[in-house]
Amino acid sequence: MAIVPNPYKTTGFLGWIDDRFPLTKLWRDHLTEYYAPKNFNFWYYFGSLAMLVLVNQLLTGIWLAMHYKPDAALAFGSVEYIMRDVPWGNILRYMHSTGASMFFVVVYLHMFRGLIYGSYKKPRELIWIFGCLIFLVLMAEGFAGYVLPWGQMSYWGANVIFNLFGTIPVVGPDIVVWIQGDYIPADATLNRLFSLHVVLLPFALVGLVIAHLIALHEVGSNNPDGVEIKKHKNENGVPLDGIPFHPYYTVKDVVGVVVFLIIFVGLICFAPDGGGYLLEKPNFQEANPLVTPEHIAPAWYFGAFYAMLRATPSMFGSALPGVIVMFAAVLILFFLPWLDKNPIKSIRYKGMITRVTTVVFGIVYMMLNYLGMQAPTDLGTLLSQIGTVYYFYFFFSLLFIHKLESSRPVPERVTA
Ligand code: HEM
Repeated sequence: MAIVPNPYKTTGFLGWIDDRFPLTKLWRDHLTEYYAPKNFNFWYYFGSLAMLVLVNQLLTGIWLAMHYKPDAALAFGSVEYIMRDVPWGNILRYMHSTGASMFFVVVYLHMFRGLIYGSYKKPRELIWIFGCLIFLVLMAEGFAGYVLPWGQMSYWGANVIFNLFGTIPVVGPDIVVWIQGDYIPADATLNRLFSLHVVLLPFALVGLVIAHLIALHEVGSNNPDGVEIKKHKNENGVPLDGIPFHPYYTVKDVVGVVVFLIIFVGLICFAPDGGGYLLEKPNFQEANPLVTPEHIAPAWYFGAFYAMLRATPSMFGSALPGVIVMFAAVLILFFLPWLDKNPIKSIRYKGMITRVTTVVFGIVYMMLNYLGMQAPTDLGTLLSQIGTVYYFYFFFSLLFIHKLESSRPVPERVTA
C-alpha cells in the first residue's frame, strides 16, 4: 500500500519517520505550537522540575538496583557497600535519597501553586485528579524506598505503618500478616516492597505523569491571573496571550533547572543527610527487631499526616479514628475542584479572607510536618490538634467563604 506523505512536508530521514510516526506532529502539538499563557511566574517552574527529579530518581534508581540486595540479611550491608566500595556509589545513593526529599519539596510547591491559582477548577479537574493520584503513588514509592536500606528507622517505620492496617475492625490483624507476609516486617516484606518500589510504582508514576500532561495539553495551562487565554484568539486560532512553549518556556525552565541544581548539588555535597532530617540518624544502624528506637519518626514529607494521626484521640483503645483522619486528609484533595465554589480562580482577585486563610493553610501544613517529626509533647499534641482541625476547616470553608468577602474585578486578558 502506498504511504500517504505527511502534511509537514518534511524530507530526508525526518520525512521518512514522519510518514510512519507522528514525530513532527508531536513536537509541534506539544512544544512549538503549544501556546502557553505569556505571564507564567516563579510558581510555574515546579512542573518541569518535578519531571527532572523524576528522571533523576529513575536513573539513579536503576544503578542503585545493580548493587542493592533485597534480602533482610544483606540489604543493610549492600547499602554500606554502595556507599564505601562502589565507584561513585555514595554520590548515586545521595542523589537518590536527597532526590526523594527534593521530589516532595517540588511537588508540594507545585500543588500549592495549583491551590493559589485555582488550577484545579473547570476545565482542569482531571489534571488535578491525576496529580492527586501521582501524590498517592509518590507517597507509596517514598515509603517503600525508605524501608529498603533496612536500617532501624526503615524497620520501625514500616512496623508502624503496617500496624495501621491492624486498626481495621475484625480483619485488621490478619490483613497486617497478609501484607507483611510474616508476623513482623521481615524478608518477605522487604522483597515485596522492593518489587513495588522498582517495578510497579515507577511504572504507575510515569503512566500517571503522561496522563497528567495529556490532560493539561488538552485544555491548556492556567496562569497567575486565572483567565482563559483561549477566549481571545487571532485569525489563525492562536491565543492572543499565548506564546509557544518552545523556545520561550524551555529557556525559562532552564533558569529554574540551574538554580535547582545548585541547591541540589550543594545539599548532596555538603549536607546529604540534612542534619538528620533527610536521612534519620537511626537509619545508619542495621534493623533490629528487638530494639525499638527512642522515638520513631516518619520521613519529613509524611510528617503532617503522622501529626494528624497522633493528634486524633483513640476510641476504645483503637487508633482507627486517627487512621481515618489521616486517609481523609489525602482523600479530601481529590474533591477540591468541587469544594471550591468561588467563581474566581486566582488568589490575585480573591478577597482578603481567602488570601489570609490560604497563606495560613500553607503555614499550618508546614507546622504539622514539623510536629510529626518531633517526639510527642502536650503542647505539640495541642498544636497538632488545632492544625488538623484547621486543615479540614480550610477545605470546607471554600464552599462558602467567598460569600463573606468582596473580591477584586478579574481582568478580561492576562496582565503580563
Ligand atoms: C511527578 C509529579 C508531577 C509532575 C512531573 C508534574 C508535571 C507537571 C507539568 C510539567 C505541568 C505543566 C507545567 C506547570 O504548570 O508547572 C503540570 C501542571 C499541573 N499539575 Fe502537575 N506534576 C506532578 C504532580 C502534580 C500533583 C501532585 C498535582 C496536584 C495534586 C499536580 C497538579 C497540577 C496542575 C493543577 C497543573 C496545571 C497548572 C496550571 O495550568 O496552572 N501535579 N504538572
